[in-house]
Amino acid sequence: MLNDVKVGTIVRTPGDFNAFSFEDSYRATGGVPVVSLSFRAVGGGLRKDPKPVARALPAFFANLLPEDKLREAMEKHHSGSVRAGNDFDLLVALGSDLPGAVRVVPSGGTFAQHEDISALKPKARFSLAGVQMKLSVMKNSGKGGGLTLPLGDEQGSYIAKFPSTAFPGVAENEYANLALAEAIGMDVPERELVEQSEFEGIPKEFETLSDGKVLLVERFDRGENGRRIHIEDFAQVFGVYPSRKYEGAAYHDVAAALNVAVSSAAALEFVRRLALAALTGNGDMHLKNWSLIYREAGDNPQLAPIYDVLSTIPYIPADAMALSLAGERPFKALNAQRWKAFANRARLPEAAVLSSVVDTIERVNDRWWSLPEREVVPAKVLERIDAHVRVMTPILGTCAN
Ligand SMILES: Nc1ncnc2c1ncn2[C@@H]1O[C@H](COP(=O)(O)OP(=O)(O)OP(=O)(O)O)[C@@H](O)[C@H]1O
Ligand SMILES: [Mg+2]
Repeated sequence: MLNDVKVGTIVRTPGDFNAFSFEDSYRATGGVPVVSLSFRAVGGGLRKDPKPVARALPAFFANLLPEDKLREAMEKHHSGSVRAGNDFDLLVALGSDLPGAVRVVPSGGTFAQHEDISALKPKARFSLAGVQMKLSVMKNSGKGGGLTLPLGDEQGSYIAKFPSTAFPGVAENEYANLALAEAIGMDVPERELVEQSEFEGIPKEFETLSDGKVLLVERFDRGENGRRIHIEDFAQVFGVYPSRKYEGAAYHDVAAALNVAVSSAAALEFVRRLALAALTGNGDMHLKNWSLIYREAGDNPQLAPIYDVLSTIPYIPADAMALSLAGERPFKALNAQRWKAFANRARLPEAAVLSSVVDTIERVNDRWWSLPEREVVPAKVLERIDAHVRVMTPILGTCAN
């Protein structure tokens, strides 16, 4: 389902093949509202149904599921009905609170009932892709407030990203980076830092051992009264499995897709976000950290607000861009030459790309050094970010010549 429109059916066949086929009524619409650009035929309309996949879901659906530790926690939480490593089981369990407007519901009650008795108690069902321990949560509006986990068919309007022992100050780091992005005019969701004590009833599988604040970000794929707004990330746009999010495409592919499917303004906004990532030492902007959002009738994608931006350089000093930018990843390789090559590969005008880079470094240098949110970032982390911004400013500045 895409909101209330039945789009198609996933069938598990003997031998554990998963086949997805579009509904005839949805085919008749030519594929509106859009589920994914990857399902669009070159000449418009819908492509043929994807080939059945052995022991995995088609890439679009595989990309809706959590990864790594978060996935393990979710599998444990649903161990009565979900076998480890089984995408189909997990998608069924999490189908009511997926990213975007996709819902996965049982068709005609033909599900195998292997859920144990504890399944009668409602369980957490959100699925946010990504690896950091995070929960989709609800803010209680009653007195006392508090943050709780949506259970059963409820859904959360916020994402809570919990601190990690491996990366000290990660919530504060992201909080400051989001504030910076907003300060330089980017589209950023509302967010705040909250105490772990504000959360109630978090199941033990999702507890993290590290102390520190939690970053709470408003979900842009949920509207008033929990209305679902569809989004898809660029792994989905390109039909790439989540395991290939660091290699499935290059940045010029994303820029070219935005230029064609959205607008040249969106492609240049993407360039600004890339320049920001290079400048702040953010080496994690892989294919799942960029999304399209379908706000109105569902056939008109826009670049979604910025999310998951933090400086990785304090934790991984020799870090580089997550994807290749005209054949290079190391931050220090990103001089004017690279951006020109990138512009050509993306079929964007060189001058517009270069001036977007220059404009971004000027704005960052105007705002970063006196940004109030710097105060929450641990000193050691901040020092490393600052040092990186100082090194990168002249390198990216070559775009001004
Ligand atoms: N504000 C938001 N509104 C709606 N969806 C969001 C928002 N922020 C993140 N998401 C979705 O949730 C997913 C996970 O969030 P995020 O990327 O912040 O977490 P992560 O675990 O740090 O990811 P990664 O695996 O890249 O480290 C994103 O890929 C995106 O689909
Ligand atoms: Mg992410």
